[in-house]
Amino acid sequence: MKVKEIKAKNLKTKKFIDNQVNEIRKAVGKGIAISALSGGVDSSVVTALAHRALGRRLKTYFIDNGIMRKDEPKEVAALFKKMGIPVTIINARKQFFGAMKGITDPEQKREAITQTFYKKVFRDLILKSKATFLLQGTILTDVEETAAGIKRQHNVFEQIGIDPKKAFGYRIIEPLVQLRKDGVRKVGMALGLPKSLFDRIPFPGPALAARVIGEATPRRIELVRQATSIVEKELKGIKAFQYMAIMHEDRVTGMRKGRRDFGMQVEIRCWESIDARKATPTRLPYVKLEKIASRILDEVPGVVSVTYNIATKPPSTIEAV
Ligand code: XMP
Repeated sequence: MKVKEIKAKNLKTKKFIDNQVNEIRKAVGKGIAISALSGGVDSSVVTALAHRALGRRLKTYFIDNGIMRKDEPKEVAALFKKMGIPVTIINARKQFFGAMKGITDPEQKREAITQTFYKKVFRDLILKSKATFLLQGTILTDVEETAAGIKRQHNVFEQIGIDPKKAFGYRIIEPLVQLRKDGVRKVGMALGLPKSLFDRIPFPGPALAARVIGEATPRRIELVRQATSIVEKELKGIKAFQYMAIMHEDRVTGMRKGRRDFGMQVEIRCWESIDARKATPTRLPYVKLEKIASRILDEVPGVVSVTYNIATKPPSTIEAV
């Protein structure tokens, strides 16, 4: 089924919100739905939209899969609580690390995360809460990249011929599927979300696992989490579409305290883009890059090399996995 795009410039937010609220109410009827909030722009907007439609019949969960950014579960839950939307945090770290154990292939890693979310964690939540629907923030770019075979986005099923009801036992509602990121932000603003949520840099469903090349072990995730936190703090306020740290699999010879140190490499990426379909590297000031590099070398144990990616998308993609 071809999805009809609504371009951000043509988007009438009030009409869009009214339509989607009606659609959600119609689909869910008197039942219960769950929303899987990750704190990303898309899932935040979907949660606010579905809460407007369903009120207390929406159960919102934040899945702490162990691959989120520093303090993310607590901070996101607190922000939503302030808006009157209760969020329950589910600790599913063991399940996700168990599923990713030993996997180095990027698509297999994405698939392991997808299966853990949909077949295990969401399925259990649906059964426990007696919900019949899962609401999620799939957007048009996710659908296109999955359909084109570029990346298996964690949240795309129906458009590639997978019936979630048959595969997982529940239905999925995707109110944002006609939009791209710029349209989603407009809807988030119109819904009254705080700027810190609707204007957040994008963050992928497979989270930090999309930024660890090779096996995503708890240790390697923790290191990329520390590097991410440094990059995000240092680049906060810079006008860019997205910025991140990537942990490489290859090691390189370095030196520490006068001795050889066969250490790790971190790559910094910072992208200019409108809708993530194409992207170019931001021309960051050299002093900024030096500051980031020196902080990563000082604060992230075992890292001896820091690089800045200057490739464009395509042929690169925004995330490394
Ligand atoms: P790529 O790496 O494909 O990323 O150039 C394009 C945009 O999408 C985000 N991204 C994802 N978002 N599920 C998502 O919800 C995913 O599986 C996923 N993979 C990448 C990425 O951060 C970028 O903004």
